[in-house]
Amino acid sequence: MRLNLKIWRQAGPRAAGRLVDYAASGVSPDMSFLEMLDVVNEDLIKRGEDAIAFDSDCREGICGMCSLVVNGVPHGPDRGTTVCQLHMRRFKDGDSITIEPWRAKAFPIVKDLVVDRSAFDRIIASGGYVSINVGGAPDGNTIPIPKGVSETAMDSAACIGCGACVAACKNASAHLFMGAKISHLALLPQGQQERHQRVVAMIEQADAEGFGSCSNEGECEAVCPKEIPISNIARMTREYVRAVLTASK
Ligand code: SF4
Ligand code: FES
Repeated sequence: MRLNLKIWRQAGPRAAGRLVDYAASGVSPDMSFLEMLDVVNEDLIKRGEDAIAFDSDCREGICGMCSLVVNGVPHGPDRGTTVCQLHMRRFKDGDSITIEPWRAKAFPIVKDLVVDRSAFDRIIASGGYVSINVGGAPDGNTIPIPKGVSETAMDSAACIGCGACVAACKNASAHLFMGAKISHLALLPQGQQERHQRVVAMIEQADAEGFGSCSNEGECEAVCPKEIPISNIARMTREYVRAVLTASK
């Protein structure tokens, strides 16, 4: 396959960026999207040019590192799929593909297609652990949890922290990410300790990082590679209201 690529190049956080045209040839339909970019980079390096910077780690849809907007869609055209799991057979010979980084104030560009997502780490750190001494690990069956509850908590825990929900949202809201993180703890008995402090601290941290608010657009759910439903946002809102009302009593 031969493809016409338009790729965002930006030398550094303060440099001006622009879309640059590249012709990619010798692309196999069996390659992943990131392998196709590896081939483009090998050609650039052979020519003595600067390789295109992009993030990846597991390339198996697990780590959440890959973060490309493909033809305007975070993670590209396949639903429930990270861009590292997107394959070139999804495209046709001669196609034009535009590749851009996540765009959000809270995710500043580091270089080319790489953005700084440490804001997510700070949100997790602000409320993401239980600080009281709970003793040794109990046997698995000493805390019975209804199957439906454990399944729902597990579905929320599937969030890989990629940030596509932020990139897709016109408000650059992190509500789906936070809703998933808060839900998976709030649903389980082990997460009841410091439940109220956790939701308040995480929402305050997200505001401080510059993420926007939620206006129920649903774009986040549509692009989430783990298909986290927006019901997680509703649960987070209920958790927040409960925490604020409890504090005011
Ligand atoms: S909610 Fe989905 S899109 Fe958002 S960070 Fe988690 S996995 Fe990525
Ligand atoms: S590189 Fe790990 S999820 Fe894509």
